[in-house]
Amino acid sequence: MSGIDDVHGTSIAVGVILFHSFEESNMNHSFSFDFTSRVAIVTGGGSGIGKEVAARLVKGGARVVIGGRDEAKLREAAAQIDASGANVRIHAGDIALPATATALVDLATEAFGGVDILINNAGIFRPKAFLDVTETEYDGFLDTILKGKFFMAQAAAKAMLKRGGGAIVQTGSLWALQAIGATPSAAYSAANAGVHALTRNLAIELASSNIRINTVAPGVVETPVYRTFMTEEEVSRTLPGFNAFHPLGRNGQPADVAEAMLFLASPHASWITGTVLPVDGGVMAGRHA
Ligand SMILES: NC(=O)c1ccc[n+]([C@@H]2O[C@H](COP(=O)([O-])OP(=O)(O)OC[C@H]3O[C@@H](n4cnc5c(N)ncnc54)[C@H](OP(=O)(O)O)[C@@H]3O)[C@@H](O)[C@H]2O)c1
Repeated sequence: MSGIDDVHGTSIAVGVILFHSFEESNMNHSFSFDFTSRVAIVTGGGSGIGKEVAARLVKGGARVVIGGRDEAKLREAAAQIDASGANVRIHAGDIALPATATALVDLATEAFGGVDILINNAGIFRPKAFLDVTETEYDGFLDTILKGKFFMAQAAAKAMLKRGGGAIVQTGSLWALQAIGATPSAAYSAANAGVHALTRNLAIELASSNIRINTVAPGVVETPVYRTFMTEEEVSRTLPGFNAFHPLGRNGQPADVAEAMLFLASPHASWITGTVLPVDGGVMAGRHA
């Protein structure tokens, strides 16, 4: 996974990315990483960031298992990701249950021979004032976001050991790095802070097994998650108001986060483990107003 070729590849890759960012002001471009012969699991792969990552993994040559609770949504996403059907499998199940993680690993192993990459991404978001959060809601955030990622990483790491290593990339959150008054999210943020801590702990425990783990912490990214607690009309009215919250002047798109996750999953990042990378249009750099 490392060596002089990768170092050269990385410098070429950086050059291409810079070239594109100077030449283009939107995310219509895509930089392809080579994932030939890799097998990946993408939780939350039926929509938003996960679907974008899954599509780009397949484009890069990987075979992918996508997970989520809604089987119809997964089936539709799989058809969009790979019309041939050859490179994508789906499994519907609640990631809060460790049995779902095992089933995803079993499917990747039976269909494609093992697991090299885990995109540990499934999650929920729903702002609510701290004083109003119920125990059931608290459990929902912790179980889905933290417990789900904990046992998914454990099941995948066991499978990666059989392949001599692997890469785990998780979705954490800007909200776990900085509280945002407009969107009170104490339970969600606490769960994601656990995901960030998991990143550093697993990096140390799994480094000697050649398994890397990194996490991205996105700012506001325009995905279907906002439609889980707002109407379509509320989304179109509210989300543009967050453009200026990001120093770079716009909300993120799934591709903005997917590109960072693909880099971290690729051999170009072979000496990076245990990091939490803000992918947030500059929010974590400081206040700009
Ligand atoms: N969009 C943002 O602004 C933003 C910012 C920071 C962090 N994030 C994080 O990014 C990740 C991806 O979210 P997204 O923005 O791409 O939203 P999304 O489109 O709603 O994707 C979330 C995915 O997670 C799956 N999921 C939710 N609960 C699940 C459960 N209990 N078991 C299995 N799958 C489950 C959903 O599929 P089903 O509905 O089929 O279960 C869905 O496909 C999440 O962890 C989110 O917290 C997003």
